[in-house]
Amino acid sequence: MNAPAVLNPVRTKEDLLFEDSLRPRSFDEYIGQDTIKANLKIFIEAAKKRNEHLDHVLLYGPPGLGKTSLAYLLAKELGVGIKPTSGPVIERAGDLSAILSNLQSKEVLFIDEIHRLQPAVEEIMYSAMEDFCLDIVIGQGPAARSHKLALKKFTLIGATTRAGRITAPLRSRFGIIHRLDYYKDEDLKKIIFRSAGLMKVSIDDEGAAQIALRSRGTPRVANRLLRRVRDYVDVRGRDMITGPEARYALDMMEVDVMGLDEVDRKILTTIIENFGGGPVGISTIAAAIDEDKDTIESIYEPFLMRIGYLERTLRGRKLTARAYRHLGFAPPGDTKSEPWPKQKKLF
Ligand SMILES: Nc1ncnc2c1ncn2[C@@H]1O[C@H](COP(=O)(O)OP(=O)(O)OP(=O)(O)O)[C@@H](O)[C@H]1O
Ligand SMILES: [Mg+2]
Repeated sequence: MNAPAVLNPVRTKEDLLFEDSLRPRSFDEYIGQDTIKANLKIFIEAAKKRNEHLDHVLLYGPPGLGKTSLAYLLAKELGVGIKPTSGPVIERAGDLSAILSNLQSKEVLFIDEIHRLQPAVEEIMYSAMEDFCLDIVIGQGPAARSHKLALKKFTLIGATTRAGRITAPLRSRFGIIHRLDYYKDEDLKKIIFRSAGLMKVSIDDEGAAQIALRSRGTPRVANRLLRRVRDYVDVRGRDMITGPEARYALDMMEVDVMGLDEVDRKILTTIIENFGGGPVGISTIAAAIDEDKDTIESIYEPFLMRIGYLERTLRGRKLTARAYRHLGFAPPGDTKSEPWPKQKKLF
């Protein structure tokens, strides 16, 4: 049996429904990210006091950390509507013009994957964000005339996992920019308890701790693991997720003690076995393991770098001694602690 892809970026309709059912409905239910929440609360209050739209907000950070959830909460706290769309969906400048001219005063336009806006579409965005107007060209050639169409004052919330791909002119038009960070185990535990309550599953402290530990600091992963662990517990006829039950299920799923799954380990072992530990280019790694380059860059790599297993150098990605040890290999130049076991027990 293949290990279930806990990080699978392709979400089925059922996955999306599951995620929606667990989304925090208020700022109080949105666990962690305290500094961001405190700042946003002040900006919201100020905007409400002045009866103005909130300044444009850019949220960035690895997948599953709560950008979309936060965007919806912002609209809710502001007491305004939200129109969600995403970068790749807006194909032509005209599509964006239509969306913008239909926005109500102070409403939120949420653009997910905002780094994927077409250049021609992005251009329209500049004056819309800055002056709340659309520059419309009517006619062609020498007879063409430019008209300015006034828009209602709105709030753009952009979300992206790839902040580096956002152009400087777009970025500079956001007044509020926040990077979401990985969650502490304590916060993940709170999220797991809340989700378990909504899913009507019993779980004890040690059970939640075990799932939190292997959730790679990511609420989406924590919720997915919880759902899988519940399946195992159900099948085994148990009525509570305890520490040993959670460990058993997570081992079966081949999610190791660092939260790495099969693909993470494939990336790391391939760099060791095929490329001498690196440095090696990301495209080469992607080709070697037959995985999408973008998926590796946006989903796997940020966490592997965060836990100090992978380094980005000018000549490509390089493995650290810590990663070698995790997989049971001797780090290069490490002779004193050899021989290393061929396959270390990870679970
Ligand atoms: N702070 C939080 N508190 C409680 N649950 C959270 C929090 N952040 C995220 N979640 C849960 O994690 C899931 C994923 O969150 P969300 O969709 O907002 O992430 P995202 O950053 O938008 O991901 P992507 O980059 O893939 O779009 C949601 O179902 C939500 O229930
Ligand atoms: Mg999202």
